[in-house]
Amino acid sequence: MFTGQTAIITGAGTGIGAAVARALAARGARCVLAGRRPAPLAALAAELVAAEAVSTDVTDPSQVERLVARAAAGAGRVEILVNAAGLFRLAPLPETSVELFDQTLATNLRGAFLCCRAVWPLMQQAGGGQIVNISSVAAVEAYAGNAAYAASKAGLNGLTGVLALEGRPHKIRVLALCPAASNTAAWQEQAPEAVRRQMMPPAALAELVAWLLASPRSLHFDPIVVRNFHDPWQSA
Ligand SMILES: NC(=O)c1ccc[n+]([C@@H]2O[C@H](COP(=O)([O-])OP(=O)(O)OC[C@H]3O[C@@H](n4cnc5c(N)ncnc54)[C@H](OP(=O)(O)O)[C@@H]3O)[C@@H](O)[C@H]2O)c1
Repeated sequence: MFTGQTAIITGAGTGIGAAVARALAARGARCVLAGRRPAPLAALAAELVAAEAVSTDVTDPSQVERLVARAAAGAGRVEILVNAAGLFRLAPLPETSVELFDQTLATNLRGAFLCCRAVWPLMQQAGGGQIVNISSVAAVEAYAGNAAYAASKAGLNGLTGVLALEGRPHKIRVLALCPAASNTAAWQEQAPEAVRRQMMPPAALAELVAWLLASPRSLHFDPIVVRNFHDPWQSA
């Protein structure tokens, strides 16, 4: 389905990003895996048929440029970008430090902006491309303890909407997926194990991302909210 296409996946070492990389690789994509820690990226790259690990801090413009240059080496194209790198730390407002706020926005919003901006000229030159931003239900629904995270993801939805418009003349499709709780390391120490077990598996979200990317290019999707069928906190 994606044979011959190169996909950059950020946050690919763990959780939803890793699941997306597996799903796209299984459908033939060459996956370029980005994240800060080299070890999980290397382990995943070894597992996939055609994958390359490029250790990257998405908050750093020069590292992002390097990532995209590495991805484009050879074919000179990047067909897919999935922005899954993210930081999620629950904290009520008085405990939300300026550092936490800034780091959350830098990772979830500035990081996605930098990655989109870096692949954009390549996608324009190639006559199209696709970007999926892994946003959150927190972008559209308020939860206590989510000040920094909600601000970052609402910003990401705003960014996605503008890029979707700007991308249209260039056949660049830009989508946002807004999941509710998924059982990944992001919830470790932030929800009890019994609750975490009820959260949707990252592989289910990855299937959705792959489906969206494979869907007819004549279709556009507004930010898609995906919830657990049963509330994990009620059903645990
Ligand atoms: N789990 C959920 O319930 C849920 C729900 C909605 C949305 N999301 C979103 O889904 C995305 C993936 O999260 P997850 O749940 O899969 O959690 P996760 O396993 O903690 O994944 C986050 C990934 O982002 C990477 N990352 C963090 N900061 C980075 C940076 N500055 N540069 C590059 N990579 C960075 C981490 O790797 P390194 O630390 O090695 O860099 C990690 O692999 C996030 O955007 C999150 O907000 C998650």
